Amino acid sequence: MKPTRILFVCLGNICRSPTAEAVMRHLVKQRGLDDRIHVDSAGTGGWHAGNPPDARSASVGAKRGIPLSGKARQVTTEDFDDFDFIVAMDRTNRDDLRALAPSLAARNKIHLLRDFSPAGAKDADVPDPYYGGPQGFDQVFDICLQACDGLLASVIQSVPPRATVTP
Ligand code: 4NP
Repeated sequence: MKPTRILFVCLGNICRSPTAEAVMRHLVKQRGLDDRIHVDSAGTGGWHAGNPPDARSASVGAKRGIPLSGKARQVTTEDFDDFDFIVAMDRTNRDDLRALAPSLAARNKIHLLRDFSPAGAKDADVPDPYYGGPQGFDQVFDICLQACDGLLASVIQSVPPRATVTP
């Protein structure tokens, strides 16, 4: 069976979306679902394409035992075919994704990460930490941890249970 694919999208793909990607991959692995749910990330902008995650985001991930990985890339129209859930970090990312979506079906794949956070107000952004202090990166990590847990619960509901193996 085809795995469910989740794409996290921010502006630069070096801070927020690689953090969400690492956190979600960790949660998926914890639940033994890594063969069923695949995770990736991208940026609406291409300025940092090819770069590793921002050192400040990587340092928070390492400190929390969830290392960040991958290289930045820009989101493409093909991503709307390749992914089932396209999850924006903020409302501007969501607007940019909506403008890029090639069809209504594609547009319906776009979500806002914090809409899945049990404690979060609807339509809330994951704040962009890039020009701020180190505490912003810890805050992004905490938001991602909480919201990804809620997102995974929703995704699991859309993933059929494993077929029962009979002897
Ligand atoms: P991200 O953060 O969208 O969370 O990866 C940013 C990264 C780079 C820039 C802005 C935000 N920038 O202006 O280069």
